[in-house]
Amino acid sequence: MRSFIGRDILSLKDWERAEYFRLFEVCDELAPHARNRRNTDLLANKTLLTAFYQPSTRTRLSTEAAMHRLGGHVLGFSDAKMTRAGDFYQESIKDTVHMLEYYGDVIAMRHYQEGAPHEAAKWASVPIINCGDGWGEHPTQVLTDLYTIWKEKGTIDGLHFMCIGDGRMRTMHTIAHAMTQFDVEATFIFPPEMSFSEEFKKGLVERNLRFRDMGSSAEAIADADVIYMEPVVQADYTQSRVEASEDKGLTPPEYRVTRDLLRDKAKPDSIILHSLPRMDELPADVDYTRHARYWEEAFNGVVMRMGLLSLVLGAME
Ligand code: CP
Repeated sequence: MRSFIGRDILSLKDWERAEYFRLFEVCDELAPHARNRRNTDLLANKTLLTAFYQPSTRTRLSTEAAMHRLGGHVLGFSDAKMTRAGDFYQESIKDTVHMLEYYGDVIAMRHYQEGAPHEAAKWASVPIINCGDGWGEHPTQVLTDLYTIWKEKGTIDGLHFMCIGDGRMRTMHTIAHAMTQFDVEATFIFPPEMSFSEEFKKGLVERNLRFRDMGSSAEAIADADVIYMEPVVQADYTQSRVEASEDKGLTPPEYRVTRDLLRDKAKPDSIILHSLPRMDELPADVDYTRHARYWEEAFNGVVMRMGLLSLVLGAME
């Protein structure tokens, strides 16, 4: 297994199966610090820099919370408009990360341009963690999702994933890459205009992922062990920011998962993951069913990022 020390976390496409399980072990070791709200000093001499060019609630704050739990330092920006990258100068990624690398030991970056963290990694001498790049990928979210599944189900192998929502979403790309490393089957339920590209699907076929496309949650839910959701009422992820419009529209019933549907058709032990934020595809009354696991995901998001930071910064091997 490759070492994590100093590694950029840009995509899960190149992750090997054993690496997921090593990360999960480290997460289990560190989880008590988060659960008991007792910080440790494992990364006391390290600094995390967060460079967020797009809005975030969970990803930025859970990464920062993880660093605080590990006794490290945090600095960064959450609004690039207040930096030289977002004003008159439109400073390039290269020039920006040549500055940031002197301010911290690892850079967590979210950007509206697909590939921006990869570009940053070319120029930075410290590891870059991709916290979402345009429609591209969202590795730390999917690592959180997989860790949650592993904790809740005791396995990832043998499960059937129903991935429903906007197939252009970065989480959908990343979960598809990750699934190629496990003995799983996938059903994709995406509106035709939001489907995976043919080229992307070809890549999944080449890596032996067993998958099918279906048209609605009602058709597919009976087979699902994991219901993996994203909205179809969606912002444009290629923009730095999208303001709320008066009428965002409603989710067609095919792409919704409701309490009635779960009661009538779902496996009794199926679990729902949603990276959030949600729209009307996942009504709030589902929160009170035994299927909901997205709040566990929120806690696990801190634990998983503690594990990842510890490994990348060499506090754990
Ligand atoms: N899941 C996720 O990426 O949420 P944020 O956009 O709030 O970070």
